[in-house]
Amino acid sequence: MKYIISGTNRAQSRSHQVSIIIQNLFKDNGEVVEIIDLSKYSFKDIGEGVYGSPQKLSQEWQDLLLKIKESEGILFVVPEYNGSMPGALKLFIDQWSYPDSFEGRPVAFVGLGGMFGGLRPVEHLQQVMAYRSAFQFPERVFLMNIFKTLQNGSLTDEVSMSLLKSMVGNFSKFCLALQQFGLDARSKMKANLSKNK
Ligand SMILES: Cc1cc2nc3c(=O)[nH]c(=O)nc-3n(C[C@H](O)[C@H](O)[C@H](O)COP(=O)(O)O)c2cc1C
Repeated sequence: MKYIISGTNRAQSRSHQVSIIIQNLFKDNGEVVEIIDLSKYSFKDIGEGVYGSPQKLSQEWQDLLLKIKESEGILFVVPEYNGSMPGALKLFIDQWSYPDSFEGRPVAFVGLGGMFGGLRPVEHLQQVMAYRSAFQFPERVFLMNIFKTLQNGSLTDEVSMSLLKSMVGNFSKFCLALQQFGLDARSKMKANLSKNK
């Protein structure tokens, strides 16, 4: 399973609406992809300094961290908050187990914001993912002036829609290509499990 991370815990966020648009593009290609909506999780649980001890987290967070570890690929939808990614997204990522959640994980990025379309949060997140050796899909999409272009859950901008369509199709191929040669995080995890049997 691939996951779309709606990268903020703000209720009724535009990131979540964009995540649904992207989920439907995967569906058009015959692929079921789940959205991780960070606004549905209680950040009280992870806001109290529990790092590296997932057993101290609620079952809900433990299940979520397992989804990340077992994911075929992750597509981040990242809004711009004060020139970067939302703190909630970084706090979530800081709970991920290292190296297995990160190394070789296929990741893709969609930014949204004002006139720069979330370029800054995407590039900050790319630094994090590069440092932790994820496989970064190079086709990024930036949704500019999101206040205007997102209306009633649809993107009015045709160029953005066609860029998203292209990205979704090619990201699936990218994930498959990595799987074929056993290079992605999930294939490596499976190989290690069968080695240790
Ligand atoms: C706390 C906060 C900070 C923001 N800072 C920026 C910013 O630095 N640059 C920008 O272009 N937009 C900024 N915005 C506007 C958001 O990018 C825009 O409202 C977007 O819809 C937010 O995504 P969300 O609806 O998923 O929360 C900010 C919004 C919030 C809530």
